[in-house]
Amino acid sequence: MPTVVNLDGVLVAPERATISVFDRGFLYGDSVYEVIRTYGGRPFEQEAHLARLRHSAERIGLAPKWDASRIAQEIARTLEASRGGDVPDPAAAPWNAGERYVRVVMTRGAGEIGLDPALAVDPVALVVVLALSGPPAAAYREGVAAAIVGVRRAAPEAIDPSAKTGAHLPNVLAVREARAAGAHEALLLDARGFVTEGSSSNVFAVRGGAVLTPPLAAGILEGVTRGVVLRLARDAGVAAEEVPLRPEDLESADEVFITSTVREIVPVTRLGTRPVGAGRPGPVTRRLHAAFRASTA
Ligand code: PDD
Repeated sequence: MPTVVNLDGVLVAPERATISVFDRGFLYGDSVYEVIRTYGGRPFEQEAHLARLRHSAERIGLAPKWDASRIAQEIARTLEASRGGDVPDPAAAPWNAGERYVRVVMTRGAGEIGLDPALAVDPVALVVVLALSGPPAAAYREGVAAAIVGVRRAAPEAIDPSAKTGAHLPNVLAVREARAAGAHEALLLDARGFVTEGSSSNVFAVRGGAVLTPPLAAGILEGVTRGVVLRLARDAGVAAEEVPLRPEDLESADEVFITSTVREIVPVTRLGTRPVGAGRPGPVTRRLHAAFRASTA
C-alpha cells in the first residue's frame, strides 16, 4: 500500500493516524508544510524544499519539532515503507508511474484553546506519503483551463506569501470559484489587480519567445519548480524575465503555463472562456517541459 503516514516519528496506517482536536494546525491553520515528489523513487530538490520549510517556520515564529536532517531521515523511512502496491492508471502521464507524493507538515501543536501562540505545547511533525497522482497525460497534450478569480491573494502584510503555511482558506475559495467556472486552476490577483500566482502553482506567460513571470515582490511563493524553470530557460537561451503582469498580459500572451512540484509545467490553453494564443500548448512551453523532464532523469 503506497499510503504511509509518519506521525511524530511513528509509521502508522492512514486510518490510525489521528491528531488532537486541540491541534492549532487543525483549529487555525497554524502550521507550515512542503510538498515534495520523487523521481526514480528519490525526492526531487529536497534540500530546496526543506530550506523553504525552515524559512516558512521562521516567518511565522514556529519552532518545528524536527530539524532538516531529521526530516530527511523520516522522509526516507516513510518512502521505504511505501514501496510497491501501485495500481496502474492508464490516463496518467507515464513518467509518474510508481512515484510518490510527500507532504511534510509541522504544526505549532496543541494546547489550551486560544489564539496566543504561547499556548502551544505539543508540536506535531507529520510526513504523509502517497502514490503520486499528477495531471493526466491529456493535460500536457491539450493544456488546461485557468480562471482569474475574484478572491485576492492575501495581502503580504497579513500573511507573508513567501511562507508556505496551512492557512489556506483563500486558496480553497479560489479553487471553488475556478471549478465553478470549469477551470483546473485559479489565478489570483493582488489588491491592486496585478497577477500573483495560482492557488497552488506559479504562473508564466510567453510573449515574443520570452518567458515572463511575476517577481517575488509581487507577493508570491518562491516555487521550487519556478526556480528550476527560470534556470532551464536561461540555460536554453530563452529570455526569462521576472516582471509585474496584469490580467491583460496573460490574456494577450502567446502562451501561458503554470508550474508546481506535482504538475511540473502544465500548458494553460484557456483563460476563462477565451483561448490563449492558438488554444494549443505552444512551442516554448513544450520545449521547457521537455527540458524539465530531461532534468529529472
Ligand atoms: N503547492 N504557489 C503556491 C501558493 C503553492 O502552494 C505552490 C505549491 C506553488 C508552487 O511551488 P513548488 O513549485 O515549490 O511546488 C506556488 C504545492 C505543490 C501544494 O500545495 O500542493
